[in-house]
Amino acid sequence: MKVTVVGTGYVGLVSGACLAEVGNDVLCLDVNPEKIRILESGGIPIYEPGLEEMVARNVAAGRLHFTTDVARAVNHGTIQFIAVGTPPDEDGSADMQYVLAAARNIGRLMTDYKVVVDKSTVPVGTADKVKAAIADELAQRGVDTPFAVVSNPEFLKEGAAVDDFMRPDRIVVGGSDEQAIFLMRALYAPFQRNHERLVVTDVRSAELIKYAANAMLATRISFMNELANLAEKLGADIEMVRQGIGSDPRIGYHFLYPGAGYGGSCFPKDVKALIQTAATDANLELKVLKAVEAANDAQKQVLARKLKQRLGDDLKGRHIALWGLAFKPNTDDMREAPSLSFIHEVLAAGATVTAYDPAAMEETQRVLKGVQGLSYAKSPNETLEGADALVIVTEWKEFRSPDFNLIKQRLKQPLIVDGRNLYDPAFVRRMGFDYLPIGR
Ligand code: UDX
Repeated sequence: MKVTVVGTGYVGLVSGACLAEVGNDVLCLDVNPEKIRILESGGIPIYEPGLEEMVARNVAAGRLHFTTDVARAVNHGTIQFIAVGTPPDEDGSADMQYVLAAARNIGRLMTDYKVVVDKSTVPVGTADKVKAAIADELAQRGVDTPFAVVSNPEFLKEGAAVDDFMRPDRIVVGGSDEQAIFLMRALYAPFQRNHERLVVTDVRSAELIKYAANAMLATRISFMNELANLAEKLGADIEMVRQGIGSDPRIGYHFLYPGAGYGGSCFPKDVKALIQTAATDANLELKVLKAVEAANDAQKQVLARKLKQRLGDDLKGRHIALWGLAFKPNTDDMREAPSLSFIHEVLAAGATVTAYDPAAMEETQRVLKGVQGLSYAKSPNETLEGADALVIVTEWKEFRSPDFNLIKQRLKQPLIVDGRNLYDPAFVRRMGFDYLPIGR
C-alpha cells in the first residue's frame, strides 16, 4: 500500500520504518530539511534500538523515502498518517496547531480518496476537528473529494518501540467509514500474528483509550511511590510488598516499581492533558489523576531529600557522583527526566555533580547548556573519585553489578542513594555502605 507519514519524530519514524519493513511504499514528510537530510543519508536523529538498521534497510530496498515536499507527500499515500508533535500548552492541554496544519495541507492538496489517520496523541474530539479542517479546505476549493478520518493511537515504549510496533498487543482503530476500516485492517494484517489484535471502536473511544492507558500506568507508579515512602517509615520492604500484591492476577507484576518519579514524553504530558480536557470540555475534576500528578511532582524530590538527610541541607563543597540521566534506560530522552529535578535541586544547594549515562550525556549537555557545577565522566567509575555520595537515577544494565570495593575506595564516604532499587540492601550494607534505596 502507499502510505504517507507526516512528521518524522519518534512515533512517525518508527511507524514509517515498520510499515515499510512489511512491504508498503512509505513516504515520510517533515518540515525540517536538516532532519530529512540526515534520514536520506541513512542516519537517524534519535536513539532507538534497531531503528537505524531498519531505516537503512528499507531506504536501500526503495520502500522508504523522505521529503520536505508537502504536495508530493499528500499525493503519495492513500493512507496519510498524522504523527506530528502535540506539545503541552502553558495550561497543560495539548497544542493542536501542527496536527491541524497537517490536516489543512491534506485538504488543500488531495485529489483522490484519503484515509487520514490521527497517530499523534490528541485530545478526545480531535478527529472531528481534523475532519472539519479538511472539509473546510475542500469547500474552499469547491470540490468534494471523499475522505475519512480515523484515530489509531500508538502504544510505543521508548527503547522498545520497534518491537512494540512489529509485535503489538493491540491495535486500536477508531472510526466509522467502512472503506477506511477495511484499509486499516489490511494495512495492519502483517502485525496481527496468530490472533486478532485489532480493536475497532468509535473515534472518540479510540482517542480516550490512549489517555486512559497512560493515566492508569501513571497511577500505578504514583501509588507505588507513595506506598514505598510509607513502607520506609513503617519499617516494611516495598519490594516484598510488590511481590506480594503482584501475584494477584487482577493486579499483576508489571509497572509496580517505585522510583524517583515517572518521566518521559508521555506520562507527564498525557496526565496533564487529560485533567485539562476533563476540566474544560466536560467541567469535571479528575481527582485521582490530580493526586497522581501531585504525588509524582513530590517524588521527583526524593533523591535530593534522601541525600540531604545524610549530608545536611547545605551541600556547599559537596561533590556527587550521578549514574544515569535519561528518564529510563535504552534511550537518550531527557524529557521530564527525574535526573533534571535532582541536578537542579543539589546544584541549588551548593553541590557539584559529575554524571555518567551510556546514551544521554550529549542530550543533557544540550538541555542544561550553561548550567554551572555539572560535569560528565566517560565511565561510571570515573564519576566516583572524591565524591561524597553515589546517586543512581536510571536503571541501565551496566549499573546492576558494579565493583562495590572500587566504589568504596573512590568515594569519600560510603554513601549510595539508589532511586531504582538495583541492589540487595542486606548485601550492600554488609559491604559497609550506608545504602538508601526507595521504600526498603
Ligand atoms: C509510555 C507508555 O508505556 C507507552 O505505552 C506510551 O505509548 C508512551 O508512554 P515511555 O514513556 O516510553 O512509554 O516509557 P515507560 O517505559 O512506560 O516509562 C515511563 C516512566 O515510568 C519512566 O520514567 C519509568 O522510569 C517510570 N516507571 C515505569 C516507574 O517509575 N515504575 C514502573 O514500574 C514503570
